[in-house]
Amino acid sequence: MKKAILLSAVLAMLVAVSCKKKDNTTTNPPVTMTLYDSLGGTEMVVDPSNTSQMIEKGRLGIRSVVDSTIFVIAADTELNGFFTVLLAEVTAGNTSGFEALSKNLTDFFCVATGAKNFTYGGKSMVAAHDPAQNPRMNGKADNGDFDQFVADLVTGAHKVGLSDQLIGRVGEVVGTLRGDVVQQ
Ligand code: HEM
Repeated sequence: MKKAILLSAVLAMLVAVSCKKKDNTTTNPPVTMTLYDSLGGTEMVVDPSNTSQMIEKGRLGIRSVVDSTIFVIAADTELNGFFTVLLAEVTAGNTSGFEALSKNLTDFFCVATGAKNFTYGGKSMVAAHDPAQNPRMNGKADNGDFDQFVADLVTGAHKVGLSDQLIGRVGEVVGTLRGDVVQQ
């Protein structure tokens, strides 16, 4: 019996020493959550628009906000005049421009919020919003147009249930682009 107690005591000591050693030698890298991680990150989920494929949860969240915002802008008479090419196509039943814009905006925001598995292949923000370089942009945006775009983005994000805290963080990213988008 005594032997058993002694053995347990020795074992307990060994465990304590080995744990201590581990504590002293293990340095965990700091965990930094990107905005993309907060939006859902790289966890794979079923894509609701095509249930035979998977999509990163962060990308799905961003795409939902983007598509929702495009619809808000399409109905906003303060901004929809800039999108005449796109709206004429959609009215005629051609959604290729909408799909390209949805993909480019989604890629853009994925990259801007810290996604690692996507790249943005569209025009620079200056070129995309300069009618001379992008004939799909009907006129130059001013500061008021930019503010309205942000308001529509907030509305679009609310519609798909994004929290105010996350909307605020997306807003910070968007705010850094004002100088490139506003060209008059
Ligand atoms: C920070 C805010 C904004 C971001 C991040 C953004 C981003 C983008 C991106 C990624 C594209 C696609 C470029 C390409 O296809 O190569 C685009 C196109 C466009 N943007 Fe913006 N944009 C912003 C603000 C605005 C504002 C304020 C307006 C209008 C007042 C606007 C009007 C347009 C138009 C008309 C197009 C072309 C759409 C089409 O392909 O038919 N954008 N934008």
